[in-house]
Amino acid sequence: MAHKLFRKKTVEQIQKDTYHQGSGGLAKVLGVKDLVSLGIAAIVGAGIFSTIGLASYNGGPAVSLLFVFTAIACVFTALSYAQFASTVPVSGSAYTYAYVAFGEIFAWIIGWALILEYAVSNMVVAISWSEYFVSMLKGFGIRLPLWLTTSSEGAYEAFHKLQQAGSEALSSSEKIAAAAYEQAPHLGNIALVCNLPAGLITILVTWLVYIGIKESRTASNIMVILKVSVVLFVIIGGAFYVKPANWSPFAPNGIQGILSGVAAVFFAFIGFDSISTTAEECKNPQRDLPRAMIYCLLICTVLYVLITLVLTGMVNYKELNVNDPLAFVFQSTGLDFMAGVISISSVIAITSALLVFQLGQPRIWMTMSRDGLLWKKFASIHPKYKTPGFATIIAGIVVTIPALFFRMDFFVDLTSVGTFFAFILVCGGVLYLDHQGISKQSKFRVPYVNGKYIVGLALLITVLGLFIYGKATIKEWVDLSAVELIEHKSLTIIFWLTWVILTVLSYKYNFSTLPVAGILVNLYLMTELGASNWIIFIGWLVIGLIIYFIYGYRKSKLNASHRALGDKL
Ligand code: ALA
Repeated sequence: MAHKLFRKKTVEQIQKDTYHQGSGGLAKVLGVKDLVSLGIAAIVGAGIFSTIGLASYNGGPAVSLLFVFTAIACVFTALSYAQFASTVPVSGSAYTYAYVAFGEIFAWIIGWALILEYAVSNMVVAISWSEYFVSMLKGFGIRLPLWLTTSSEGAYEAFHKLQQAGSEALSSSEKIAAAAYEQAPHLGNIALVCNLPAGLITILVTWLVYIGIKESRTASNIMVILKVSVVLFVIIGGAFYVKPANWSPFAPNGIQGILSGVAAVFFAFIGFDSISTTAEECKNPQRDLPRAMIYCLLICTVLYVLITLVLTGMVNYKELNVNDPLAFVFQSTGLDFMAGVISISSVIAITSALLVFQLGQPRIWMTMSRDGLLWKKFASIHPKYKTPGFATIIAGIVVTIPALFFRMDFFVDLTSVGTFFAFILVCGGVLYLDHQGISKQSKFRVPYVNGKYIVGLALLITVLGLFIYGKATIKEWVDLSAVELIEHKSLTIIFWLTWVILTVLSYKYNFSTLPVAGILVNLYLMTELGASNWIIFIGWLVIGLIIYFIYGYRKSKLNASHRALGDKL
């Protein structure tokens, strides 16, 4: 059984499978500029237009440093993605890479985790789009009924709380949600409340993605130009209103305050990898994908750091606990017209993030289906539009329904934990490619710095640094009992153990330093997401494994070819 679970595809096999599909393959129209544009379209979205507010509120101006630190993790990961994308230039992204590096069971797990990065993150983006859209309409004096712009989950919870504890116990947003419940038409006992704009925008974007990659590309390019212009407008315009006094204290709530923003900040970076799912639609994927990934990551990092400094410089960080921080800071400065322009463009910006993820999810499913791990209909390509039509429609439905009915909070953490996991496996996969000598055929390789001693030395220096500068942390650990250690620090223990294991393996196999650093930085940030998110994520993986054993394990094309080989012998 084990050999079946870890059966691998070779690079040659993957390329052969891709280019010999009966459907005729996808249209090859994307160049490096299009890819950078798609990357920026995916990266700059709800994260920077929305969740940055709460992160800045908790961490103060120093959150800009968290953006730099997270960007470093992303650059290490992007280099690894780039090496894989230039070795295996097909649509499946990390899923395909894991099939080459670790075998089928890991590939399935990654494919399953990527649903969190693409479909689940898009639920967040659609809900956030709806918030901006509703407030933009308000700016024009148009008010949609509350019961058409509120999640059913939020409305039911708020109404229940209202009945239990009275209106004094409700926050202002809960009061609005409870009012939505009360104003809604009822079907018997059921209040008909939903977030209609979130559902409608997902349907609209799904239609765009369905009718063609060219149309999606044009729409994306236009939206990105507008989006970057607005971000630059905020940075340059806002710079004149920065009061340096607001940057002091720089880290008002210390390291913990900064790190509480990990999920939000990481969410803002998610997306640079999504362009690897368009590999089959690139004119020259080996050359263009690596370049595009690095370019768009560098551009976004600079924009994010500058925008964080501008936001926290324009107003005191304590005022930033809002959903529309970019517009808010201009409002607070009395620049209502600029705030209005920013609100409208935020709606457009978030739409483009939605578009890229709706483009990516069906392409991953298409690749999994080609391998026999998903029903073969997922690989069917529309004869006229040359897009994976069926998978696109399913991705649309999967995102639309939760976006109509649920709140976003739960989905943000779930997206981040799943994406960190995928990133760690991609970095680990590069170590495998190097070890197996497969990297020799890669047209792009992660710059090699021998980690034989560096990984261990870095561990030693970090531990020494902790003993010298982190006495409070050490004391906290020493005071905990064994049970408390497992209860509260198990994630951190996993991090340190991984570092020790990587030290030994790097010494033994001369591992490349950058992918190892990628694993460690991603894992460290992942530990900051908290145990409850890990538990939910593990639950998600268990569901995925059950599906795999019921379907993919038996239907896998590799299984069929193994059987055919066995029959012949
Ligand atoms: N990075 C994407 C966003 O901020 C997911 O919306």
